[in-house]
Amino acid sequence: MKVFTELPDWRAERRAERRAGIGLGLVPTMGALHEGHLSLVRRSLDENDRTLVSIFVNPTQFNDPTDLAAYPQPLESDLALLREAGVHYAIVPRRDTLYPDGYRYRVVETERSRAYEGAHRPGHFDGVLTVVLKLLQIADADRAYFGEKDWQQLELVRGLAEAFFLPTAIVGCPTVRDADGLALSSRNSRLSSDERRRAPAFHRALVAAPSADLARRALETGGFDVDYVEDDGDRRLAAVRLGGVRLIDNVPLGSDR
Ligand code: PAF
Repeated sequence: MKVFTELPDWRAERRAERRAGIGLGLVPTMGALHEGHLSLVRRSLDENDRTLVSIFVNPTQFNDPTDLAAYPQPLESDLALLREAGVHYAIVPRRDTLYPDGYRYRVVETERSRAYEGAHRPGHFDGVLTVVLKLLQIADADRAYFGEKDWQQLELVRGLAEAFFLPTAIVGCPTVRDADGLALSSRNSRLSSDERRRAPAFHRALVAAPSADLARRALETGGFDVDYVEDDGDRRLAAVRLGGVRLIDNVPLGSDR
């Protein structure tokens, strides 16, 4: 696996491969890789000649500086996992490389980004959409892979690709869960053993409650601080805090629940 930190080096590599007709899949990540990321990687490896994984803890999508400071960054073990999975390229850019403008230029979506995650994390989706646009431009990939766990993010990224006529196809991939139902997340490593034991009740409540209000009540009774539980079309979207850790999840509504 070739690891790039400098954009011109990556661009030269990609130009040569594109000229040779070699297809590319991009898996954008913030590192702290787990089985959820690896499922995106495997899908990309299946569907493309080559796979590029980006690892960048994007500061502009963190509205809370303590959350950013606590975000795990095990770079060497991440790279080892990617090598083992058979990934061809990793790109690990520095902050000033991705933000030469100091974030003076940004992508702002003015409607759907204001609800749910956006309402609780002001500016979060401006940061996400801005960095995703940069990564898509840099990667020059045929397909880019995003997890359905971040449902709102996936919808907004699809909207971004459409609004700006981006040539990369956006591929959504199913949420990967532990056997007890907890959606895999880099943040799960920050749960204490007691919190980890209680955490699966989050998913259980979303699936079992007949309404969003009843799910909220069940979660509050179970000791979760609820940011939101909302039904939107055929999805129930939710975010809670357990101890100091924020968890998000979503489930389909209706017959396929
Ligand atoms: O889902 C994530 O890990 C991040 O939001 C992403 C898409 C890599 C952008 O920083």
